[in-house]
Amino acid sequence: MVPLLILILSCLIEVSQSLQVGFYANTCPNAESIVRRVVSEAAASEPRIPPILLRLHFHDCFVHGCDGSILIDTGLVTEENHASGHDGVGGADVIARAKAELEAACPGIVSCADIVALAARDAVVLTNGPMYEVPTGRRDGLVSNISLAADMPDVTDSIDTLKAKFLQKGLLEKELVILSSAHTIGTTACFFMTKRLYEFFEGSGSDPSINPEFLPELKAACPQGGNSNSRLPMDRGSGQTFDNQILQNIRSGFAVLQTDARLYEDAATKTVVDSYFGLFGPFAGPSFEADFAKAMVKMGKIGVLKGSNGEIRRVCSAFN
Ligand code: HEM
Ligand SMILES: *[C@@H]1O[C@H](CO)[C@@H](O)[C@H](O)[C@H]1NC(C)=O
Repeated sequence: MVPLLILILSCLIEVSQSLQVGFYANTCPNAESIVRRVVSEAAASEPRIPPILLRLHFHDCFVHGCDGSILIDTGLVTEENHASGHDGVGGADVIARAKAELEAACPGIVSCADIVALAARDAVVLTNGPMYEVPTGRRDGLVSNISLAADMPDVTDSIDTLKAKFLQKGLLEKELVILSSAHTIGTTACFFMTKRLYEFFEGSGSDPSINPEFLPELKAACPQGGNSNSRLPMDRGSGQTFDNQILQNIRSGFAVLQTDARLYEDAATKTVVDSYFGLFGPFAGPSFEADFAKAMVKMGKIGVLKGSNGEIRRVCSAFN
């Protein structure tokens, strides 16, 4: 009897402490529409914004949970945002703009971690990806430590390392594939292509998995010794639209990132990629869009702070 009561009580506590869709419905009813407007205004003046915001959410969640820790920027070299695993991550300015508007509308209510999660969703929608509900109620973290970002997935990681790094966050092979498909939008700096194009075998040669038709194109976009800051779309032919072309490209040797190519060389992840191109295709097969949305919601729950843990930052770049 007593154990049952405890079970019921702990379930109730669990429910009251879990993220929920519409968490701000009473406390800040316009929270989601404010974020959406700020994101679409930013995207209208800078088309790179949606992919940047989608990536920001991933990098936030993979280090110390989705707690806005990546946004802390008070100038200390020990802060997480200086980690090499976060090279090229941006979007903090857009989050700061949304936060300023939210503080004006409902001070002290909406966490930076939630703004990041909502902005990632809005970014997906803006590029023609699936609309999905984002459970909210995350609190902002109180830790920003560069060492905690040492295990970010790296573009040179093997498939086994990628699987292990995702599993460590509770994400399975299917989610590794489907979340990597976020590369359906956005660009990479040539910096991340050097090894794949010119130093694949201990200092020379290129990745043999690159389709021979594609290799000269990639080399022209990122010439050896050229500008490492030049950028090229990661989803050839469809870099601004959220669609499953990225998986088709991965299947045919047109993956741009080395880690995306690895997804088609492992039996388990290859099966996942192929599952989206089955005989019954879009009718009876799995839905790329629905699976992506589901995986994003799951990623968005990694290590979140709830209830009275953490804080609601006043400014996203600094602890209160
Ligand atoms: C599997 C491990 C992953 C690796 C090794 C990886 C690596 C990279 C690299 C090297 C870039 C180029 C960065 C730059 O030059 O600015 C990039 C861009 C990007 N990544 Fe990933 N990524 C991974 C997973 C993910 C996941 C899970 C998401 C989101 C769900 C994501 C979303 C993005 C987006 C949207 C961009 C484009 C950013 C832009 O256009 O500025 N990535 N990724
Ligand atoms: C950062 O984390 C590392 C490893 O957990 C720890 O040794 C170090 O003391 C932390 N640094 C700060 C500034 O908290």
